[in-house]
Amino acid sequence: MDEAKLGRTWALWSPPGRDEVRSPCPALNTLANHSIIPFDGRSISREAIIHALTRPDTFHLSPKMATLFAAGALKANPAPNATTFDLDMVDKHGFIEHDVSLSRDDIALSSNSTFSHDRFRETYGFWAGGRGEEAVVTYDEASKARYARVIQSQKRHVEVGKKVVYGIKEAILSYGESALFFNVLGKDGKVQL
Ligand code: HEM
Repeated sequence: MDEAKLGRTWALWSPPGRDEVRSPCPALNTLANHSIIPFDGRSISREAIIHALTRPDTFHLSPKMATLFAAGALKANPAPNATTFDLDMVDKHGFIEHDVSLSRDDIALSSNSTFSHDRFRETYGFWAGGRGEEAVVTYDEASKARYARVIQSQKRHVEVGKKVVYGIKEAILSYGESALFFNVLGKDGKVQL
């Protein structure tokens, strides 16, 4: 790991430019935008990602969880036995990336990796009481937002003669992602917006 390139504080922030790669994961992108992992989003080692995910001032994951996530990230690298990964490798559809995301489109309809204002607007419409008045997301709102995305995705696929992929694996992953932001960013079943 090139220590000199990695940020020590959250104070550094820059959006990615044309030479930088990013992922469908808002958490990983945030770490890169703050240079807590390499800003270019490339050649991230197992040690670098575990360190970044476990730091008390970042997501403060347990070493066990971080090691599990790092293994998934490295497996997304198409090179056999890779020891690093690039952020744009984790958008491999059907591996971790799936249809019915909260802030990304489905692969059959548009980019499955870049932020979609339209998709996130739908999600946000369910958060914070659906009116943006209370600056928190509750379990009830998070589950309604996800279910609405399921229905909306199905409808949009049918309109273009395609089939959404949302089975057991995708449901577990997507509800797991919601659980992650409740546990990592929230407290007592509420996440501050
Ligand atoms: C090495 C670690 C990680 C990897 C490889 C990873 C990978 C991914 C991938 C591939 C997606 C896209 C899933 C989709 O299609 O919707 C995703 C989404 C997501 N990730 Fe991560 N992630 C990691 C760590 C984290 C952490 C620490 C958090 C904590 C907040 C997090 C929160 C989320 C959330 C909330 C989404 C859903 C975004 C959406 O639905 O639009 N991830 N992640």
